[in-house]
Amino acid sequence: MEDLGHVAWPPEPIRTDRLVLREPETRDRAAFIELLASPEVHAYLGGPRSRDELEHELPAAPARWPGSFVVDLHGAMIGQILLRRATGHRRPAAAGKADLGYLFLPQAWGHGYATEACAAALDWLAGALPGEPVVLTTQTANVGSMRLAAKLGFTEVERFEAWGAEQWLGMRSLGTPSG
Ligand SMILES: CC(C)(COP(=O)(O)OP(=O)(O)OC[C@H]1O[C@@H](n2cnc3c(N)ncnc32)[C@H](O)[C@@H]1OP(=O)(O)O)[C@@H](O)C(=O)NCCC(=O)NCCS
Repeated sequence: MEDLGHVAWPPEPIRTDRLVLREPETRDRAAFIELLASPEVHAYLGGPRSRDELEHELPAAPARWPGSFVVDLHGAMIGQILLRRATGHRRPAAAGKADLGYLFLPQAWGHGYATEACAAALDWLAGALPGEPVVLTTQTANVGSMRLAAKLGFTEVERFEAWGAEQWLGMRSLGTPSG
């Protein structure tokens, strides 16, 4: 994966009804550690990282790059959206395309925040890179993620085996209003 490359970055913070999408800040460090060390968040993502290790290794200021959004609710980070370039994707249909990833803190699940934030990020991408399709890979066992992908308008390209589990590759054409 690489960053998106040639997009105007950073955009003005993106405001939705309830959320703000913005660049990572130094004050998000504790939330990043929560997110990366959470066994629930990483149940379908190859397992969490050690909290001790993260405390030592995570830089004081989080990395900033085009396509990396923090999702903010009432001034606190509740999740992360990653729009990247799927260079080296193992499925030819996805290789080189824009790729959506999302991770939210478990206490923020079940409120529609992920749907609201991802739709806004996809709208931003549709403006930044008009006409680009977006791909998304998730384990089929990750029911919440599969539901989210469907709500965002992704449709199945194929299923494949990787990392010891069945994976779902979905695609979404841009230009389609996210509603
Ligand atoms: C995948 C993930 C982001 C989904 O989070 P989520 O909170 O379930 O997602 P949503 O934003 O779609 O919200 C889910 C529910 O909130 C409910 N909800 C409550 N209030 C709502 C509101 N005001 N508006 C919309 N939905 C609302 C909805 O009914 C929805 O449930 P449904 O899909 O059964 O209808 C989350 O589980 C996660 O971070 N998982 C770990 C990381 C991961 O696996 N990522 C995938 C790989 S990239």
